[in-house]
Amino acid sequence: EKGGWSSFMRKEVAEQPEAVAKTLLGRVVDGRVVIPELESFGDEELRGIRRITLIACGTAAYAGMVAKYAIEQWARVPVEVELSHEFRYREPVLDEHTLVVSISQSGETMDTLMAVKYAREQGARTISICNTQGATIPRESDAVVYTHAGPEVAVASTKAFVAQIAALYLFGLHLARVRGTLSAEALADQLAELQAVPEKLEAVLAESEKVTQLAHWMADTRSVLFLGRHVGYPIALEGALKLKELAYIHAEGFAAGELKHGPIALIEPGQPVFVVVPSPRGSAALHPKVVSNIQEIRARGARVIAIAEEGDAAVLPFADEVLRIPLAAPLFEPLLAVVPLQIFAMELSQAKGLDVDQPRNLAKSVTVE
Ligand code: M6R
Repeated sequence: EKGGWSSFMRKEVAEQPEAVAKTLLGRVVDGRVVIPELESFGDEELRGIRRITLIACGTAAYAGMVAKYAIEQWARVPVEVELSHEFRYREPVLDEHTLVVSISQSGETMDTLMAVKYAREQGARTISICNTQGATIPRESDAVVYTHAGPEVAVASTKAFVAQIAALYLFGLHLARVRGTLSAEALADQLAELQAVPEKLEAVLAESEKVTQLAHWMADTRSVLFLGRHVGYPIALEGALKLKELAYIHAEGFAAGELKHGPIALIEPGQPVFVVVPSPRGSAALHPKVVSNIQEIRARGARVIAIAEEGDAAVLPFADEVLRIPLAAPLFEPLLAVVPLQIFAMELSQAKGLDVDQPRNLAKSVTVE
């Protein structure tokens, strides 16, 4: 039930702190990750994994893209992300040392289900990250780690996305401990960052008024671009997807580094561009590069809306608008930066008088191939 909210999406956006908190609940004990559901995967087996393939569609695939950066960094194992419908039709190289992790809110997405079945037939081991108890994909997998976001009703996925990242991060940190790739201290730091996410999400939600205004001003916009880099790249893709599905506006997300390889030709005066700005405290090279991307597009007339962490003053001279997110370690920023983009798409949809919960042509779970 909507319980007083004007739409399920609005309710689900607001439930994101809780979605992450519940997904972490009971799974961090004395500075260690405890995931009893993964008992069938012994430490020896986890140490023997040579490659991880994350398979999913839509928003769940973007959660996978975010997690790729974290799992590779923490557990030093190669991770690839593939759309489920592409995976199965290209004869992927799979064996018992390949771990295939599917990500699905509904657990019923046919493309993902068929990909999981295919992976098992080829001898890979499979884990399902799923939000729906007893769904088909978990039943077809060797193990399941549930996200505890609660039922997600709106077609546009929001709270399931942040819960998927939280679950994948738990898994990545578990793997890092088993494989000995992170010191106890580093592990404890990352877990503390993860546990701080719900509170920071509350702070982002409390600051959403500016995003709402922006959406109202931009209700006639015909095209919006999104740029990001590193973990901000999948967030740019997710921002574009949300805007397409909810507000029927042409939107595209790019890796900021790709700009000069083509997309910058799209920039003309007045073109709105959201830029997810990496933390200046992260990889030393990335922040100045993205700031210079902002200067390049601004010089060509783009209207820049920067999503930047509190206190990052470098963006101020060049951005038309700055949406602030609280300080977080770089790998945790996507969990916060996605929220203004979700709200922007939702508010714009509403400003256009569209059905926020049930956009045209879409179904909540896609049970056909
Ligand atoms: O249920 P699933 O997580 O498997 O669904 C995957 C996609 O269909 C889903 O994320 C879709 O892209 C959403 N409508 C995005 O908001």
